[in-house]
Amino acid sequence: MSAPAGGRLAGKVALITGGARGQGRSHAVRLAEEGADVVLVDICAPVASAPYATADPADLEQTVTLVEELDRRALAVRADVRDLAALQAAVDGAVAELGRIDIVVANAGIAGYAPALEMDETTWQEMIDINLTGAWKTVRAAAPAIVEGGRGGRSCSPARSPG
Ligand SMILES: NC(=O)c1ccc[n+]([C@@H]2O[C@H](COP(=O)([O-])OP(=O)(O)OC[C@H]3O[C@@H](n4cnc5c(N)ncnc54)[C@H](O)[C@@H]3O)[C@@H](O)[C@H]2O)c1
Repeated sequence: MSAPAGGRLAGKVALITGGARGQGRSHAVRLAEEGADVVLVDICAPVASAPYATADPADLEQTVTLVEELDRRALAVRADVRDLAALQAAVDGAVAELGRIDIVVANAGIAGYAPALEMDETTWQEMIDINLTGAWKTVRAAAPAIVEGGRGGRSCSPARSPG
């Protein structure tokens, strides 16, 4: 257990998907600078339709190092945001190890560059599965831990629907 941090997010835990590199790494470091511990979820494996290399395990380890250099804890999890069960396991592991989740950053994504009239259905579907459904699965897996923490966040009940 590391020493309590100062900063606006001292004592909080942030889960970030796509946290191995790029904007996800930047979010992780910035949140750690403000005192948060982080859970870094990343596929760290090729994505078939992405026309470039996604992150690798060394990228994920580098983000862990950058966060730990700020004296914050970083839990690295290799998981695919298309896999709800894997995300749920990541959340359960994070709560067991870091005690709570307060912030969710659904950042993982890929970019397809094909013109719409040339893109094949598999490429389209993979992008939707990661960028759209993956964001929903991330929130679906992680948000209950925020609500159950009782320190903020809220769930939407059908009883509160407009009418
Ligand atoms: N950089 C930009 O200008 C820009 C612009 C618009 C949107 N975005 C979006 O912002 C996010 C971050 O962009 P970036 O530039 O840092 O990209 P990036 O490719 O450097 O980082 C994305 C990360 O997501 C991970 N990832 C990809 N698919 C995954 C999956 N199925 N499950 C778990 N992890 C997965 C990758 O391994 C990578 O580490 C992406 O969603 C991207 O589409 C970026």
